[in-house]
Amino acid sequence: MFFPQFRARRIRASETFRRMVRETTLSVNDLIYPMFSAFGSGIRKEISSMPGIFQQSIEHIVAEAKEVQALGIPAVLLFGIPETKDAVGSDAYSDSGIIQETIRAIKKEVPGLAVVTDVCMCEYTDHGHCGIIKDGDVDNDATLELLAKEALSHVRAGADMVAPSDMMDGRVAAIRETLDDNGFDHIPLMSYAVKYASGYYGPFREAAESTPQFGDRRSYQMDARNRREAVLEAELDIEEGADILMVKPGLAYLDVLREIRENFTQPVAVYNVSGEYSMVKAAAERGWIDERTVTMENLHAFRRAGADIIITYHAKDVARWLKGL
Ligand code: PBG
Ligand code: ZN
Repeated sequence: MFFPQFRARRIRASETFRRMVRETTLSVNDLIYPMFSAFGSGIRKEISSMPGIFQQSIEHIVAEAKEVQALGIPAVLLFGIPETKDAVGSDAYSDSGIIQETIRAIKKEVPGLAVVTDVCMCEYTDHGHCGIIKDGDVDNDATLELLAKEALSHVRAGADMVAPSDMMDGRVAAIRETLDDNGFDHIPLMSYAVKYASGYYGPFREAAESTPQFGDRRSYQMDARNRREAVLEAELDIEEGADILMVKPGLAYLDVLREIRENFTQPVAVYNVSGEYSMVKAAAERGWIDERTVTMENLHAFRRAGADIIITYHAKDVARWLKGL
């Protein structure tokens, strides 16, 4: 059937028809809001490259967590900025570490809000790498033990789900085994399964103070040029016990997100990373784009590509927009 018998515009002609034929939905239930918890008190410092996002001490984190819950957002993803960093990232797996204290405070004051924790070493090591260093390089197998300790201390403090982001081989299995052996076989694991070495993490590294002090992350994070490798990484993590697969970054990797959606039955998450947020904010501040239109377009694109869950710094704004505020 061709023009003029068929006219594609007929069902686009009114808002009612457009509503009726929409293929993709976005709900507040799909969102996770990342937060940066800093050691100390009275701290609320805006990240210069991420307007609206703050490094905050625990009392401010708790206050914002209440706001997040009131907006109906089901979960937060926590990152920690410890008092001190060292070569082996001790604060990461200390029961009195910054994240452990933050988890306990949120679970006490905002028990209904799900707490997901980023499990990695880079925020806690003085060299800024995601594992411990031996002979100038990340020691994969020695790092696994520390990641498992870190994840265990998070769930002991009350974390509802752990999300390893380090990209070491075998880390999902190591964490799963440690959690299971310690009575936490009910705690789900969301793996940063498909994580690329990306320039889009720049603003995050300011927020988390986690820039590598030498070299870069290309020996553990994936090459942006690869797509088949994404399926392999996801397969390995599913074999090792991941419950949710994540693709990161999002916007430049929608093809990868679709690929993962089609190859696996497990829920798929996407991380709408810091640089993606900063670009929207910067262009909107200059009046070059409309923030709300572009943000909603980006988030629907993640849903259209197959994401069940979207981790995004826009979550609070989106929750308000979805309520019509
Ligand atoms: C830690 C981690 C990073 C991000 C999430 N977890 C940074 C990195 O790997 O360098 C990036 C998040 C963002 O850019 O918003 N490994
Ligand atoms: Zn890391």
